Amino acid sequence: MKVLVVGAGAREHAICDALKDDVDLYTYISKKNPGISKISTYHIADESEVNKVAEYAKENNIEIAVIGPEAPLGKGIVDKLEDVGVKCVGPCQSAARIETDKSFMRNLFEKYEIDGSLTYKVFDNTKDLNEFLDSYDKDVVVKPVGLTGGKGVKIVGDHLKDNQEAKEYASEVIDNAMGGFAQVIIEERVIGEEYTIQAFSDGNHLAPMPAAQDHPHAFEGDKGAITGGMGSYSDVEGLLPFLSQENYDKSVKIMEDVITAIRKEAKPYKGILYGQFMLSADGPRLIEFNARFGDPEAMNVLPLISTPMIEVCKGIVDGKLPKVEFKNLASVCKYIVPEGYPETKFAGEVIEVDEEAIERLNAKLFYASVSEEDGNIKLSSSRAMGIVAQGKSISEAEKIAEKACMYVKGNVYHRKDVGTKALVDKRVEHMKEILNN
Ligand code: GLY
Repeated sequence: MKVLVVGAGAREHAICDALKDDVDLYTYISKKNPGISKISTYHIADESEVNKVAEYAKENNIEIAVIGPEAPLGKGIVDKLEDVGVKCVGPCQSAARIETDKSFMRNLFEKYEIDGSLTYKVFDNTKDLNEFLDSYDKDVVVKPVGLTGGKGVKIVGDHLKDNQEAKEYASEVIDNAMGGFAQVIIEERVIGEEYTIQAFSDGNHLAPMPAAQDHPHAFEGDKGAITGGMGSYSDVEGLLPFLSQENYDKSVKIMEDVITAIRKEAKPYKGILYGQFMLSADGPRLIEFNARFGDPEAMNVLPLISTPMIEVCKGIVDGKLPKVEFKNLASVCKYIVPEGYPETKFAGEVIEVDEEAIERLNAKLFYASVSEEDGNIKLSSSRAMGIVAQGKSISEAEKIAEKACMYVKGNVYHRKDVGTKALVDKRVEHMKEILNN
């Protein structure tokens, strides 16, 4: 079967790796990914030019397309592919609004009385915005309504000093129509521990994956700029050390209710639903949905799948999702980034990657934003590669991942604390404090 994966990052490399043994694999990539290009018939072009992707898929008799990133989903890539007879793992444009239009997402919670939402308001003018923020006594989060490539959300107490600074930033969001809408969402800042649950959806049913926790801060100890994610871990039984089965199940129920609501408001949601939750004193609260796998969280869960990924993809597109099984192991993913990232002076430099040594440790390497020239791997200004290991415990996986990271040499950096006992214990203690207050 001919399957096309769209997208050029580490997340898409992990998707390709999960499919490669069972399909004739094609890829549509904006830049040459050294890992993806080795295992697929690849075509380098802009993934957001959705008509061209559809033409390419038709010319090559692709049967199923798996869409990695959110930008083409927002541009209706699935609708275009379906028009030419290609079935898709990824929601159509109207269903992808769960990520591309945060006001649509929050309204669904209200209209369908779905649990786990939070106080929010949408503003399209600074007068109402300022009046609200002057009278609101809790810290807030400011979010553009549309897609901003992960760079638009600002949190009081993190990126912003107080609600006065929030006012200034929120006005900027409206004035510049950041993310494509002259609107801004103000949400209450929920305190707790954040986690991700990803699920396959065939439009009617969900098959949830193991929970994972990402580490967005650039530096150890959760310091520094918020990035796309510096690493993540998952635990045995699909839970996390601070996340009980009860709260996992509640989170999945929220996702199921949302899938039902989308079916009524738009079209059946076929693809991956990514739920970012905060475990608060009041239980799981939904922070955000994405209409795709998480990056890095995809790298935790995809290597754990024991059901063939192609069977999962067929189940999604045909509306007959099978039970999806995962190995009962923990996993740790560490992102290797250029030294100084996100502001690096080492873009363009050659690094040494000993792929064989990493494989000998039973770890996996998924390439992100690097280029390959004359056999040399070169850094860009973005994340370079994810290194993933599995183990009977998070600690065991962490130790293997850490060893494997030593086989990437050059002006690079990774967070050594991701998945360590000390950091995981800190998360557990933080959660206990919240529950006891
Ligand atoms: N890990 C964050 C994201 O995938 O959006």
